[in-house]
Amino acid sequence: MATNLKETKEFIEAKLTGFKPEVAIVVGSGLGGIADLITKPVVIPYKDIPHFPKPSVPGHAGQIVCGQLGNKNVLVLNGRFHLYEGRSLEEVVYPIHVIDALGVKTLIITNAAGGINPSFNPGNLMIIEDHINFLGVNPLLGGVNGSGIKFTDMTQAYSTRLREKLDAAAEKLQIQIWRGVYLATPGPSYETPAEIKAFAWIGADAVGMSTVPEVLVARYHNIEVAGISCITNLAAGISSKRLSHDEVLAVGAATQEKLAKLLTEFIGML
Ligand code: HPA
Repeated sequence: MATNLKETKEFIEAKLTGFKPEVAIVVGSGLGGIADLITKPVVIPYKDIPHFPKPSVPGHAGQIVCGQLGNKNVLVLNGRFHLYEGRSLEEVVYPIHVIDALGVKTLIITNAAGGINPSFNPGNLMIIEDHINFLGVNPLLGGVNGSGIKFTDMTQAYSTRLREKLDAAAEKLQIQIWRGVYLATPGPSYETPAEIKAFAWIGADAVGMSTVPEVLVARYHNIEVAGISCITNLAAGISSKRLSHDEVLAVGAATQEKLAKLLTEFIGML
């Protein structure tokens, strides 16, 4: 293990005093409410963790919250890093290498996304069935930490087993849920209507600016992934409305309670 990663891992383990996280959750823009449901939380601000990137975007809390949720030991990464902040790919995916080092085997990843599929509305939740990497980069380029190139299989990027469990959790709670393909762009501009038409044509149902780098690294480590998009707006040109980050945050905030309930039920089923 690289020295930096080892120091990060040892710092976090010392704070967790024997607690072993099994499930990690990455929360997207305005979707951090699930962290409040954790019992006996241990909170570790990113700024205190050696070698951990430091947060900069409003709406992103920037802390690890560990504790029990749905009878499992969970670790919430409340605040993520994006390419659009001008971060390096290494920074974006560093937390995923850290959860792997801590022994996490399941990753739940959430994000805010624009709805491309015409049946989607703001406030809908979409189980991510698959993704399209439109970032033009891949965090696995050149190999990871000098360990050589690994041709990572992505046929189960979002595990069928976990998608079925998400479906079952939604059905049990009578939460309406959609399914679809998430396409990632680097941002920070939203898309043009022409880009959205093109993305629909190549098979995307939702568009966002995150998630794909983290999932690539999680699959590299053989961590099983479940993904959920919160549709915060209709993508450019689907409606005549202009897009705004404030709206994305507001719809995320209004939807996070439903999302937190769903994830709690889901985690209980794991
Ligand atoms: N496009 C890209 N990213 C997003 C959007 C969008 O419409 N909504 C939330 N994140």
